[in-house]
Amino acid sequence: MITMEMLEKIRKEHRPILEERLLKEGKVIIKGNEIVLKGDYYKKQYRIALKNCGIINPGDIRDYIAMDGYAALANILRDKQPKEVIDDMKASNLRGRGGAGFPTGRKWEESFKKSSDKKYFICNADEGDPGAFMDRSILENDPHAVLEGMAIGGYAVGSDQGFIYVRAEYPTAVASLEKAIAEAKEYGLLGENILGTGFNFDIELRLGSGAFVCGEGTALMESIEGKRGMPRKKPPRTSHVGLWQKPTILNNVETLANVPVIMNRGVEWFRSIGTERSPGTKVFALVGKVVNAGLVEVPMGTSLREIIYDIGGGVQDGKVLKAVQTGGPSGGCIPASLIETPVDFESLDKIGSIMGSGGMVVMDENTCMVDIARFFLEFTVDESCGKCTPCRIGNKRMLEILTSMTDGTAEEREISELKELAEIIEDTSLCGLGQTSPNPVLSTMRYFYEEYEAHVLDRICPSGVCKSLLKYNILDNCIGCRKCAKVCPTSCISGKVKEVHVIDQDRCIKCGACYDACPSEAITIG
Ligand SMILES: Cc1cc2nc3c(=O)[nH]c(=O)nc-3n(C[C@H](O)[C@H](O)[C@H](O)COP(=O)(O)O)c2cc1C
Ligand code: SF4
Ligand code: SF4
Repeated sequence: MITMEMLEKIRKEHRPILEERLLKEGKVIIKGNEIVLKGDYYKKQYRIALKNCGIINPGDIRDYIAMDGYAALANILRDKQPKEVIDDMKASNLRGRGGAGFPTGRKWEESFKKSSDKKYFICNADEGDPGAFMDRSILENDPHAVLEGMAIGGYAVGSDQGFIYVRAEYPTAVASLEKAIAEAKEYGLLGENILGTGFNFDIELRLGSGAFVCGEGTALMESIEGKRGMPRKKPPRTSHVGLWQKPTILNNVETLANVPVIMNRGVEWFRSIGTERSPGTKVFALVGKVVNAGLVEVPMGTSLREIIYDIGGGVQDGKVLKAVQTGGPSGGCIPASLIETPVDFESLDKIGSIMGSGGMVVMDENTCMVDIARFFLEFTVDESCGKCTPCRIGNKRMLEILTSMTDGTAEEREISELKELAEIIEDTSLCGLGQTSPNPVLSTMRYFYEEYEAHVLDRICPSGVCKSLLKYNILDNCIGCRKCAKVCPTSCISGKVKEVHVIDQDRCIKCGACYDACPSEAITIG
C-alpha cells in the first residue's frame, strides 16, 4: 500500500518516462503540464473526459498517476470533509452526461443527507444506445478516471461499496476495468484504508446482458439485485431508496470521468468552459453520413455546424445536409435549418430533441424522415420491457401506423392518430424509455410534416427510400439503347431500338436495376 508521499513520488518519477515514450511515438504535443493529441481532428476539440484516452497505457496505473491521477482523491481525503466535496460539486454545476442532465452535486447531496447503515455508489456503464461508444472508449482507455471519480463520490456520500454495471458485450472494457481495479487495490487506492486515511471503498463489476432498459436507473438496480431488469416507479428516488432499499447514487461513466479533473483544476476553471447552465464539455459519437466519423469532445454550447463541418468535415460525397439526430433512439431529428443551434441541454430541449448520452447521426438529402422515425421506433418496440401498457401496446400501434405509411397503405386519419398516440405515450409511460420513445416521431412530424403528407396523401416518398412508394419512369431523353430492358428481371420494359422506352408500372418490382443500367440518366425515381 502506498502513502500520499509515495503517490507524488510515482507521479514525479513516471511523468518524464511517459513523456519520453509519447514523444518517441510522435502522436502528441506537450505544452507545460498539458499533453494533447496531434492533428486537425483534435485541434478543435476540448478534452476533459477523454483527456487521457490515446495518451496513457490503461493497463499501467503509473501512466494514470503521471497524468495527475489519484491526486484529486488524495487531496480530498487529506483536506476536505464530505460536505465540502458536495459543495464543490454543486458549485461546479456538473450535470449528468448519461441523458437527463441532472446536477451531480444535488444528487450526491440527497444521498449524503440520508442516514443509513449502508450506501451504494454505482457507475452506469450500460451504454445501450446503438452507435454510441463514448463510455466504452473511456472504460477501455482510461478506466482509473472512472474508479477515482467513484471513490471521490463514495467518500462524499458516505458509501464504502461501489458497483460498475457494464454490458458483457464490452469484453475489452471489462478486462480493462478488472485490471485497473486489481492494480488500484494493490496500490491501496481502492479497498480498505485508502492511502492510510481510514477511508474504505471497494468496487465490484456487475455484467449486464445488453437490454436497453437496463440502463434506466431503477431497472439497473433490479438487475444488480438478480431480478429481471424492469423499472420501478418513482418516487422514491434511488438516492434515498435504491439498491437493496439503501440510498444509492447512479452516475454515468463520462460524468464520473469529469469528477477528478474538476477537483484537480477547480470549480472556477470548469465553469469557465461551456455555457452558464451547462458548464464543461460533452463527448459525442458523430456517425452517419459525415466525412470524419468518430468521438468528438467539445465545450457545451458549440454549434451543430461546428461539430459537423469544422470537426466532422461535412456531409459525405458533397451531399446536402438534411437533418441531425441527437440523443439516440429516444432523441429527436433537427432540420438542417437549425444547424446554428448550440449544443447544450436547454437549447436541444427547446427544439424538441435531447442530449441523451451523446449520439449524433448526420443525415443527408437521401434520408426519408418517416422511415427514420419507423427505424427508431422498431428499436423501442423491441426493447420495451412490457411492464406498462402505453409503452408496450402504444409503441406497437405507432410502429404499425408508420409501417403502413412507408408501405403506402396508411389512411389520412392516421397522421393525427399517430401524433395523438405519441403524446399520450410520452405522458403516461412508467419510465424514461416509454416517455421518450415518441421523440423521433414528434420531432419529424414537427419539422418534416410534408413528408408524412406525401407518404399518406400522395403515396410518394420524396427521398426515394420507401420501396413500395417508388415509381420508376423513363423520360424523353431515352436513347433507346435497351440496356434497361435487358437487365429488368420481370421484363416489364418495352420499346424499340432508338425509341423512348416505357415501364409497365403494374409489373415493376422496384428493384432499381434499370436505373443503375441506364447510361443517359433517362430514368427517374419518384
Ligand atoms: C431506457 C433508458 C436507458 C438508459 N441507458 C443509460 C445508459 O446506458 N447509460 C447511462 O449512463 N444512463 C442511461 N440512462 C440514464 C440513467 O437512467 C441515469 O439517468 C443516469 O445513468 C444517471 O447518471 P448521470 O446523472 O451521471 O447522467 C438510461 C435511461 C433510460 C430511460
Ligand atoms: S415505459 Fe416501457 S420500458 Fe419503461 S416500464 Fe413501461 S413498458 Fe417498461
Ligand atoms: S437504358 Fe436508359 S437510355 Fe437505354 S433504353 Fe433504357 S431508359 Fe432508354
